[in-house]
Amino acid sequence: MAGRYKSDLGWSDVTPKADWLNRRALMAGAGALALGAIAGPAAASLGAKKTDWGAGLEPNTFEDITSYNNFYEFGTDKGDPARYASALTTDPWSVEIDGLVDRPGAYGLEDILSKVTLEERIYRLRCVERWSMVVPWVGFELADLLEMAGVQAGAKYVAFETALRPDEMRGVSYPVIDWPYREGLRLDEAMHPLTIMATGLYDEPMPNQNGAPIRLVVPWKYGYKSIKSVVRISLTDTQPVTAWNAYSAKEYGFYSNVNPNRDHPRWSQKYERKVGGGLFAKQVETLMFNGYEAEVADLYAGMDLIEFH
Ligand code: MTE
Repeated sequence: MAGRYKSDLGWSDVTPKADWLNRRALMAGAGALALGAIAGPAAASLGAKKTDWGAGLEPNTFEDITSYNNFYEFGTDKGDPARYASALTTDPWSVEIDGLVDRPGAYGLEDILSKVTLEERIYRLRCVERWSMVVPWVGFELADLLEMAGVQAGAKYVAFETALRPDEMRGVSYPVIDWPYREGLRLDEAMHPLTIMATGLYDEPMPNQNGAPIRLVVPWKYGYKSIKSVVRISLTDTQPVTAWNAYSAKEYGFYSNVNPNRDHPRWSQKYERKVGGGLFAKQVETLMFNGYEAEVADLYAGMDLIEFH
């Protein structure tokens, strides 16, 4: 491992694999059937390539990451996704890629995976609600997928859509947002090497509650941009409608870059609390672009980040 991490600290050092496998076996034994897809004995290691991303970060435990979730299609309580997302059928799965691309069509997940190299990316995740985690995602760059489809010269934005399956998603009978869940990025944000499509975490296939089988992860933006269980990706020349922006544009901007200097109208964004620290967890200062300023600030050169929040 020498030289790979600044601190030589990867998730496997923080939580020995045998430990979390054991805890999972215990949970399954205790009848935690809601963990469904992830509790099965078949959960194979993805063998993701290690990367430098995440040097010095301490990942949250597998339990934290899979039991404290936002996935409103399954309910608005933090425990609802772990309880109910096992109802989502994730195999077979395909992603429809359409709009301004040379090769539109349904891209089967297995076909996509046969053409990419999975990497581990240990990223911070900062929710607009002021909690945060560190997650050892497994995935590949969104740019690789967009290149498969062939982005046309006129494309300026990328729109994403989550599956909408009332039979499997008990939460969508409530009009919390205008379903399906939708998100969007500017094309240069989508092509940025930090932007990944994640298909797993802790080197295992993505748990349903975290957005199985494939979800977006954009680590410098508030967590709601990182849309789960993606079934459609559309290349457009106009800024796409996004779920939370359509719900309340003042509260949830299209850009949604993590920014301690731009408060949410109902709360400050200067601080956050890392999940898993217990009731008395200290608040820590929120970092500009969630700590990825060196990598992404150039994307917004000359832009007023308060106005374009
Ligand atoms: N994607 C869909 N389809 N539905 C959702 O409710 N919640 C978002 C985002 N993606 C959400 C979603 C929010 S608010 C956050 S903070 C992250 O997912 C949480 O991801 P996690 O549960 O894997 O930590």
